[in-house]
Amino acid sequence: MNETKSNEWNAGHYDQKIGYVSRLGQSLIGLLQPAEGERILDIGCGTGDLAWEIARSGAHVTGIDSSEAMVAQAAAKYPSLSFRVDDAQTFRLQPEEAPYDAIFSNAALHWIRRPADAARSMALALRSGGRLVAEFGGQDNIAEIYQGIRSALESAGIDADERNPWYFPGIGEYASVLEAEGFHVRTAELYERPTPLGDGAQGLRNWLDAFAGKFFAGMTEPEKEEAYVRCEAAVRGKLLRGGEYIADYRRLRITAIRL
Ligand code: BEZ
Repeated sequence: MNETKSNEWNAGHYDQKIGYVSRLGQSLIGLLQPAEGERILDIGCGTGDLAWEIARSGAHVTGIDSSEAMVAQAAAKYPSLSFRVDDAQTFRLQPEEAPYDAIFSNAALHWIRRPADAARSMALALRSGGRLVAEFGGQDNIAEIYQGIRSALESAGIDADERNPWYFPGIGEYASVLEAEGFHVRTAELYERPTPLGDGAQGLRNWLDAFAGKFFAGMTEPEKEEAYVRCEAAVRGKLLRGGEYIADYRRLRITAIRL
């Protein structure tokens, strides 16, 4: 959802093939406990499904995402909500905007390569006492998939680490980032969430298409196909179960209050 989210986002693909991102984010709304009349900012809103769920509480929700395609799709699906293109690392309250009561973010902050800047933006956007409820990929998230990508790229003479667009911090690291910007961390959990990718043996490809474009940039279609096949071969033994890929997600779920 920021400048480092280097895939060209395809909002249609996201809704059709990666719908589990929003579906699995629903439980985070329970933690947010949105209330009628509250002003809530959804960072990395994607195509707006969770913003819409939050708004059902009667809260006023604004969604931001760095992808124009995502924001356009969100605005088309949910015209009564407010969405805008913005970067988590640099956004500031608009002149007419009052500080928010809460910030919500699902599956977005692992795209933020300058987390301290994002923490600063979030702190500035919240009122004193406002809350942050976020979940994203944590330490060792998708370790098997990443190894598969790395070995596939190695065969093509590419160093995956140089192209890695993701940030998967541990609890201590991310709590420190927030605390440095005046947040009090209330809860933090790093937990395994094996995630079925659906669509049978196509599931890993759908995931790579949606999220891993930066690794395969500049390859011809046959080169990319070969790399996908190598990646699938590398992870199949660990992640293919009953004909479906189960991604080795590990989530960092964190709640904090801005002092
Ligand atoms: C995640 O939700 O953990 C994730 C999604 C895309 C790329 C990397 C991680």
